[in-house]
Amino acid sequence: MLVTGNEILQHAHKNRYAAPAFNVVNMEMLQAVIAAAEAEKAPVLVQTTEGALKYAGIKYLSLMIRYAAENAKVPVAFHLDHGTTFETAIQCVRNGWTSVMIDGSHHSLEENIALTKSVTKVAHACGVSVEAELGRLGGVEDNIVVDEKDAMHTNPAEAKQFVAETKVDYLAIAIGTAHGKYNGVPKLDFDRLDTIKKMLDMPIVLHGASGVAEDDIKKAISLGVNKINIDTDLRVAFTDAVKDVFAKTPDEFDLRKICGPGRDAVKEVVAAKMRLFGASNKA
Ligand code: G3H
Ligand code: 13P
Ligand code: ZN
Repeated sequence: MLVTGNEILQHAHKNRYAAPAFNVVNMEMLQAVIAAAEAEKAPVLVQTTEGALKYAGIKYLSLMIRYAAENAKVPVAFHLDHGTTFETAIQCVRNGWTSVMIDGSHHSLEENIALTKSVTKVAHACGVSVEAELGRLGGVEDNIVVDEKDAMHTNPAEAKQFVAETKVDYLAIAIGTAHGKYNGVPKLDFDRLDTIKKMLDMPIVLHGASGVAEDDIKKAISLGVNKINIDTDLRVAFTDAVKDVFAKTPDEFDLRKICGPGRDAVKEVVAAKMRLFGASNKA
């Protein structure tokens, strides 16, 4: 069934687990996520980036994902990931998304607050939940000095002010993860997470979770992370399976025999993440 992001995230916040959020760009990815969620009896967020909207088209994604969500046996929220403008976020609200992220993390605090506020005002009036981001993710290199790292990670006092002024439903924070594949081993700032969770007492979101050690994921959940975004691990699972098809049958040209194994591989990874996040049997 199609639900709002808030319905899923509030349940995760109260029951101390993390709802999984997976990026999809086509039918196969979507079907893999829904099939795994039903098999695991897990609530799930299906999310699309602006890049996905550009690739597939807003109407194609809207109709396909809403059909899948409305017919799923588990709660499914339909989320915009990293929306960068008011216009994109509101287009998604108008086209049936039930949760939108407005990412103003590259702006100043004041500009981020103003942008986020403009989106929460409209989205909440339409019954759509809102995620925002404070602090900067990604590109945290080993040679960055501690002061610079501190400046990029979410400031707890600013987070308190940000949430009070914007009224966002859940907040993505920067504690040392990065998008994409990691070069080294990510070092998570658990003390910062603990402080922010205690100060805000609301659902917290972790981006860039592909490639993070399972123990670190479990610790982050125990300290209050309630939504975990996974994209890269699914891309790798899909493409590895397709590469395997061509390694075994280089002349294959039936798309179903190429993309089908990709879909099966993604389903396995999604199910494993759901178990790791404590989301299985929470639907
Ligand atoms: O942050 C989200 C993704 O990992 C990047 O996705 O290439 O669709 O923008 P994208
Ligand atoms: P990964 O690239 O680590 O999978 O991160 C996904 C993400 O945060 C999407 O918003
Ligand atoms: Zn992200």
